[in-house]
Amino acid sequence: MKNTEYIAKVLVSEEQIKARVSEMAAEVNAHYREVGADELIVIGILRGAVVLLVDLIRELDMPLKLDFMAISSYGGGTTSSGNVRVLKDAAEDIRGKHVLIVEDIVDTGNTLQCLLQLLQAREPASLKVCALLDKPARRKVDIKADFSGFDIPDEFVVGYGLDFNSLYRDLPFIGVLKPEYYAK
Ligand code: PRP
Repeated sequence: MKNTEYIAKVLVSEEQIKARVSEMAAEVNAHYREVGADELIVIGILRGAVVLLVDLIRELDMPLKLDFMAISSYGGGTTSSGNVRVLKDAAEDIRGKHVLIVEDIVDTGNTLQCLLQLLQAREPASLKVCALLDKPARRKVDIKADFSGFDIPDEFVVGYGLDFNSLYRDLPFIGVLKPEYYAK
């Protein structure tokens, strides 16, 4: 059992996440069945997307290859700088392939916009995005995930992959930290 005394409130419970991830997987399966994809490349964006990624791929029903990219946008604080750097590129050649990007959150949208531009230039057969969370109030660019789990209010959240100073990614729910923990 985890110690969660640092959590002020739970925004999305473990049960809600499980149910929604299954629904999203069903949406993803239906989409790729419809377009006749015989193989999928799933690119998880390190590090936050890893938790969603492992839950999601186990419910996908087509052959898939797993890949990762690391992008830096937040630095150490709680707000996006708009500075996006590729720290680790994908290993797979995606030309002519169906590609699904998996993200934990779309916040300003800067990261996703850069990522989509970068990957689109490699001429995949299709390029879609699955993200657990969407914070529409903070959007700076007109962009949306194709498969989206939950819209959340403009609060800094942790858990299920999301961190503050690299902590709390292991929590099975999405929550808000008590203010004193942001000072740590
Ligand atoms: C977070 C998140 C997205 C991005 C979203 O990553 O995983 O990649 O920020 O923000 P944006 O829409 O404002 O661009 P972060 O840089 O915190 O890295 P992490 O996943 O390793 O925590």
